[in-house]
Amino acid sequence: SALRYELDKLGNTAEKEYREIIKKDLANFETLFKRFLLKSGPSIVWNDIKSPPEGYIKSYSEISKPTLSGTEKHLLSKLVVVKLNGGLGTSMGCTGPKSLISVRSGLTFLDLTVQQIESLNKKYDAQVPLVLMNSFNTDDDTNMILRKYASCHVKIHTFNQNRYPRINKESLLPIAQSCNDPLEAWYPPGHGDVYECFVKSGLLDKFVKEGREFVFVSNIDNLGATIDLNILNMLVNPPEGSKPCDFVMEVTDKTRADVKGGTLIEYENKLRLLEIAQVPKEHVDEFKSVSKFKIFNTNNLWMSMQSISELTTAGKMEMEVIVNNKRLANGTNVIQLETASGAGIKNFHNAIGINVPRSRFLPVKKTSDLLLVMSNLYELKNGSMVMSSKRQFPTTPLVILVGSKYRKINQLLIYF
Ligand code: UTP
Repeated sequence: SALRYELDKLGNTAEKEYREIIKKDLANFETLFKRFLLKSGPSIVWNDIKSPPEGYIKSYSEISKPTLSGTEKHLLSKLVVVKLNGGLGTSMGCTGPKSLISVRSGLTFLDLTVQQIESLNKKYDAQVPLVLMNSFNTDDDTNMILRKYASCHVKIHTFNQNRYPRINKESLLPIAQSCNDPLEAWYPPGHGDVYECFVKSGLLDKFVKEGREFVFVSNIDNLGATIDLNILNMLVNPPEGSKPCDFVMEVTDKTRADVKGGTLIEYENKLRLLEIAQVPKEHVDEFKSVSKFKIFNTNNLWMSMQSISELTTAGKMEMEVIVNNKRLANGTNVIQLETASGAGIKNFHNAIGINVPRSRFLPVKKTSDLLLVMSNLYELKNGSMVMSSKRQFPTTPLVILVGSKYRKINQLLIYF
């Protein structure tokens, strides 16, 4: 009740025209907070975990067709692409949105994304829209840049994810006293926000009314997350005798370098994402091993928009709460409660995983990843990174930049 009192007080500080919206957001935050109070600690009974049943993780070759025989335009008419664009480039020493970092040939993540979709739209005379989920941290800068794509053959939309108050770790009360308090009093609550905020924006409904059926959601910093026509075809034209899928998680084979990624399990008769944060301490090594958990989530997710709409409206889009501990510049310890989009899988009725080639997972998290994608290991084709045919192995080399002086992009470029 102390939290509710503080949230009410916060809501009343909002300007009149936004007050109702902000109060609604704060009420949603309260729901998340209650779930955090009820379920803290590892939420999994280790012995109840099973490997996903036969058929629930399909191989990419199983769903691929040698030819789509001219159906590409029709398939693309069913699709919307959403890129998760709430994050900043702070881990590589940049201040603005991560999507605006220049990755290769002066092109940013956003430029490459637009190029990829534009080239497909042109090739197949299609109109696949691009939607960016921004956060209050990225919205202004992103919108400013979007003007440069005005004449592109891609319609770009944006919506904002929630802005929730950071909570003091000791008092468990918001550190913000007013809605106008500085940005550091607030946070974007993870990409699990995509379901609720996509619906709330009215965009999902608009696309469904236009006859679109599926959304492909991925991290904007994953350069391998291009539109895949084979997966789209499987969704739009389910193989004879099989139930139509309403959720696909692209997973890929785990290597020793991927110890932290979430994996798919069967739990309480549902396909579910198991993240390291949910694993009891004594089983963390087992979780990290490549022998027991062989695949991990790329966060390339395909979903039926109808299912998202139904689950969200019915309040049935449940995701585990992730507690992220932070220390502010003034030394205050805060927590922020987050959710991850892949955790939404358990709510869908016909979810599967598809084991895709590693090339669909090319994330740029650190400057060592950047060095790899800047190099001539890759060639740029229509906004997509294609590994050079001269490479003798299908895997990428392991790049380790020793020393903190390479952590920031500017420094890396100077030293390099
Ligand atoms: P992160 O870089 O924060 O996550 O965001 P991660 O370390 O890859 O781990 P996963 O994906 O959570 O397992 C991944 C993508 O999600 C966006 C970022 O902009 C990035 O594209 N994101 C993250 C949001 O849009 N909102 C958020 O609140 C957090």
